[in-house]
Amino acid sequence: MITPSQSSETLKAIRGSFLDFIDDPFYVPESESVRYIADGLLVLENGRVKEFGAYDTLKHKYADLDITSYTGRLIMPGFIDTHIHFPQTEMIAAYGEQLLEWLQQYTFPTEGKFKDRNYAQKVAAFFLDELLKNGTTTALVFAAVFPQSADAFFEEASRRNLRMVAGKVMMDRNAPDFLMDTASSSYQDSKALIQKWHKKGRLLYAVTPRFAVTSTDAQLQMAGKLLQEFPDVYLHTHLSENVDEVELVAKLFPESKGYLDVYDQVGLVGERSVFAHGVQLTDAEFERLSEMGAAIAFCPTSNLFLGSGLFKLSKAKSDQHPVHLGLGTDIGAGTSFSLLVTAHVAYKVAQLQRQRLSPFRAMFLATLGGARALYLDDKVGNFDSGKEADFVVLDMRATPLMAFRNPGSTATSLKELADQLFSLIMLGDDRAIQATYVMGELAYERESDRPH
Ligand code: GUN
Ligand code: ZN
Repeated sequence: MITPSQSSETLKAIRGSFLDFIDDPFYVPESESVRYIADGLLVLENGRVKEFGAYDTLKHKYADLDITSYTGRLIMPGFIDTHIHFPQTEMIAAYGEQLLEWLQQYTFPTEGKFKDRNYAQKVAAFFLDELLKNGTTTALVFAAVFPQSADAFFEEASRRNLRMVAGKVMMDRNAPDFLMDTASSSYQDSKALIQKWHKKGRLLYAVTPRFAVTSTDAQLQMAGKLLQEFPDVYLHTHLSENVDEVELVAKLFPESKGYLDVYDQVGLVGERSVFAHGVQLTDAEFERLSEMGAAIAFCPTSNLFLGSGLFKLSKAKSDQHPVHLGLGTDIGAGTSFSLLVTAHVAYKVAQLQRQRLSPFRAMFLATLGGARALYLDDKVGNFDSGKEADFVVLDMRATPLMAFRNPGSTATSLKELADQLFSLIMLGDDRAIQATYVMGELAYERESDRPH
């Protein structure tokens, strides 16, 4: 039997203003999809949500509990980045090129360095610290072609107890020799990594052919074979990002009906398949993705940086053929680790197409939307009971300008909150992340808030 004093040792509680989503505000009115508790209590047990509600309602039940209070702060579920490359951290902001030339000139030489296991480990550690500093607690991550680069990543993620999905890149053509595997070695190496890491603690594996340009049909078939043998692993690749790339894929696969069809023919399109970009997709391809329950990672900072184009948000979130959608930073073609900045640029991408991306919709994509895209919404993405308690404490007055723009106290209505949230998206970045919690434990705290 658990006595009250024993049980309270495993319990803790956080008090503050809370915002999460219980449904998709692209399809359900915001009044029904947004959950906002101006003065709330989040009760945690063994790193999971035990109970969540208004402080006034819960305070008597948990009167003995030690409460950490974040007065005047907004607490949200940890952000979810649905597409990012850890080996590209050091080559962020590489000047001048569009996709295919950018890969040759900057990306491939950089990824070559990840043959060195120790180097990969150092970068993985820096990368994960950077994610936490930006409030990101879950990501779908490309390693490099070398299996040891994936090992290094998983080890560092495991050390931080993070829910991460990652995989070794598969690429067997159109790349430098030092960066290529073969259809058969990529199959063997990926299989060994799946057996070693998939579902180990909070880690999950993604079969990761880079894109149709750098994989032969034989290698893509091997990727399909892995998905058949291990039905609950992910498929993570790039799709229809850039006009020259789409043309090249048509030349390389003359038999295919289109870019998505190259992947579809070998069984790579389904639930837990995540395709980065999709800027150049046709209507029929959006429909097929919708039909198959596959997801797109919308990577606005990358799409602008590489001049790839404007993602058709309204097609992805159409009423007729809704596609699972998350936000991706796509470091190092993306220019920020912050999902606040990514949401900011997503807003501008919508504006350029005369569309509006509301602050609630944008933050849905960064949390529950990302979780749904990764089929992880039974584990993360909001504060429902039983979920893993990954969350971020946001300071909406982190800079003098933010405080000037948003002097008001705690929002008392959704309308007020929407305005505050919008200013956070437009002006915020890592400076607005006061703290990040992983499984209920403090994993990052902004320097100015640390005890001296
Ligand atoms: N397509 C194939 N590889 C890559 C990559 O590393 N980054 C981006 N943005 N697109 C790609
Ligand atoms: Zn990418």
